[in-house]
Amino acid sequence: MKSEVRELLTEELKDAYSAEKQALRCMQKAVRKASAEELRQGIEMHIEQTQAQIERVEQAMEKMGVRPGRKVCEAMRGLVEEAQHEIEEHDEKGPILDLVIVAGMQRIEHYEIAAYGTDVALAEALGEREVASLLSETLEEEKQTDLKLTEVTKKAIMPEALADDDEGDGESKGGRSGGRRKAA
Ligand SMILES: [Fe+2]
Repeated sequence: MKSEVRELLTEELKDAYSAEKQALRCMQKAVRKASAEELRQGIEMHIEQTQAQIERVEQAMEKMGVRPGRKVCEAMRGLVEEAQHEIEEHDEKGPILDLVIVAGMQRIEHYEIAAYGTDVALAEALGEREVASLLSETLEEEKQTDLKLTEVTKKAIMPEALADDDEGDGESKGGRSGGRRKAA
């Protein structure tokens, strides 16, 4: 049975490898659409982290004696597709599009947190300590990224989004202007 658990972990690693590469491309596109400086910096930082995460998955696979192969993470494909679709629905840059980007990214992060949580547990159960430690490092980064996205939303994006009525494209209700912008 142990060999089957091993097999399961190697399949998980192939999946994670595909997931990270897809997430990377998604973030590289999203960062160009982000407005809030803190959000852009956060995405840039996670792009760098993701490059290191891809290398960690490669190292983990090497330790397990497997190659990435052509496995495609279908779940990440769906998440990325949806995020990109939502982003494309908003052609105007600004706080609302920033919120859409965060929403897509947090879904992606949560998927990765779930996957790496399982994978760390599998690696530990198999006594693959180095693999477990590589994946734990990534898991921690994903959790931090999720927290950071929440923080950036609260501090930098949401105040703008709620105060943006008079800058809308004809959707502002009743022409209330001024005053509220600094309210946050
Ligand atoms: Fe990641």
